[in-house]
Amino acid sequence: MSETNALPLPVARSVAALRRTVQAWRAAGLRVGFVPTMGALHAGHLSLVDMARARADRVVVSIFVNPTQFGPNEDFGKYPRQEAADAARLAAFGVDLLYAPAVDEMYPAGAATTVKVGVVTERLEGVCRPGHFDGVATIVAKLLNQVQPHVAVFGEKDYQQLLVVRRLAADLDMDTDIVPGPTVREADGLAMSSRNAYLSDEDRAVAASLPSTLNFVATQLRTGADAAPLLDAGRTRLLKAGFSEVQYLDLACATTLAPLEKADRPARLLVAAKVGATRLIDNVAV
Ligand code: PAF
Repeated sequence: MSETNALPLPVARSVAALRRTVQAWRAAGLRVGFVPTMGALHAGHLSLVDMARARADRVVVSIFVNPTQFGPNEDFGKYPRQEAADAARLAAFGVDLLYAPAVDEMYPAGAATTVKVGVVTERLEGVCRPGHFDGVATIVAKLLNQVQPHVAVFGEKDYQQLLVVRRLAADLDMDTDIVPGPTVREADGLAMSSRNAYLSDEDRAVAASLPSTLNFVATQLRTGADAAPLLDAGRTRLLKAGFSEVQYLDLACATTLAPLEKADRPARLLVAAKVGATRLIDNVAV
């Protein structure tokens, strides 16, 4: 079943080992749930695990820091890696299998296929992080093919990623339900993220103004007011609070991410901003 390990739950490090376990579950008529992660797990990830467990008999969590979704000047090298601590949390949460492949298991020599999702990738993160969604779509397509789960849970914290994954699962006829997991927040509203670990105390205090600004703008958008002046006011508020750059603060259609002038249909308010060297993203429903 699992390969040799000193971790507190079964671990598969190869596609073959993963498939042996999952195929045995499926042969026994069990439903399989899946939560893909890059590790450095926090309560947000664990809430996704809970959602998978509520919808399946067995849960697989993957930990793979995917090099292809990081830009050349991004934080791939310093992304927090803490497999033993993560494994302990997953074991305590009743996860049945940790899938933790090495880079050359996922991208063996000669690998030459990239999955590219159109339209929904064209704005926002797609502009700020060129190539990012090709890396995400490629690794998610591979993970879903490898695990073949009945259900997979993706956090709404990465709202555009969730839409990209829904699109690719539909377009590639994958037999997996993609379920959105609500964002889990700290007491002051900051969305939980592995990247919050990069924040100094001072940056962390500034970061709290991200969710409060989203709520401030969203409340007014919900009255049907024009978006442009509210988005301007939101950007100014973030800069005044200490963010060094607001890459976008945008109102978009909740299903296509097309820009909206007012919230006249289900909409999403999305933001990306930098505090110190750390880039934070967040979003709320409008
Ligand atoms: O959201 C993440 O942690 C990653 O983008 C994912 C979905 C695990 C793909 O690497």
